[in-house]
Amino acid sequence: NYFSMPYLGASHYVLVPIATIGCGKTTIAIALNHLFGWKHVQNDDMDRKKNEHKKGFIVPGGVKLRTKTEWFVYSLIEGLLHPNSIDETEPNKIKRAHVVFADRNNHMFRERKQLFNDIEISIKQCNEETGNNTSTSNVSRLIKFIGIHFKHNKDPTELEKLKNITRQRILSRGNNHQTIKREFLGDEKIEEIMSGFCDRFQAPVRTKPTNIDSRFDHMIEIDVSDQNSSRKNLEFIIKDLHAVFPDMFTGELPSQEDIDKAIGFALKT
Ligand code: GTP
Repeated sequence: NYFSMPYLGASHYVLVPIATIGCGKTTIAIALNHLFGWKHVQNDDMDRKKNEHKKGFIVPGGVKLRTKTEWFVYSLIEGLLHPNSIDETEPNKIKRAHVVFADRNNHMFRERKQLFNDIEISIKQCNEETGNNTSTSNVSRLIKFIGIHFKHNKDPTELEKLKNITRQRILSRGNNHQTIKREFLGDEKIEEIMSGFCDRFQAPVRTKPTNIDSRFDHMIEIDVSDQNSSRKNLEFIIKDLHAVFPDMFTGELPSQEDIDKAIGFALKT
């Protein structure tokens, strides 16, 4: 357990994309961060950090994180407890929602299961250490997991459309990514990696309480329907979240112009 801070009483939300490569996860996460200050935790950033800390990544308190997954969960919990957007001097900070975006594909049941378990267990340990006797079931009520499902059509012709759009995006991105670099991998290898993710994709199933995905408190369904779908998806996500969890937002919702600007900013980043 890496944390020794008290667990605040505010609402805590984890946004969990369920996607494959090139669907627009990072673009949407950057835009949401730009608009609302929600913390964006990017799985692939660990690769960069690992090079800086060859023997593992040391976090405050001297604990060494050895794996990408440990670092990912650590950063998400850090964001839930200490969100960037919160001004420590603000008197009503406790009432503000804390939101983090878990930017990785989460395209398989086991990835989602690991995310739910690791976050809940770490928060529970943190509470025990700080004397907050919160049971796992209470923690479950405090942390809300929201799925953002980038739908992958089962029909092969339809799926091919998504593959074409995402392939196009990734190839034109070139080397501007932490791990998938066109120059080193080559187009064929990139296509193979992307196709592998699509083949392994497990859409969320929430029909029975025993399904792993039943842990999601809410699911937002979006499509990668054209090359520029991220703008439309961003707006849809904001509207949907606002309708279901209004406490995630303070003040006015962004205007069309604000959304255009945020997407423009994310695409340039
Ligand atoms: P990975 O991190 O590789 O798994 O991809 P991702 O799902 O995070 O997708 P990302 O947001 O990084 O988008 C992939 C590439 O497509 C980036 O170069 C983006 O700038 C670009 N892209 C994403 N959405 C759009 C869009 O709506 N329009 C255009 N023109 N480009 C987009």
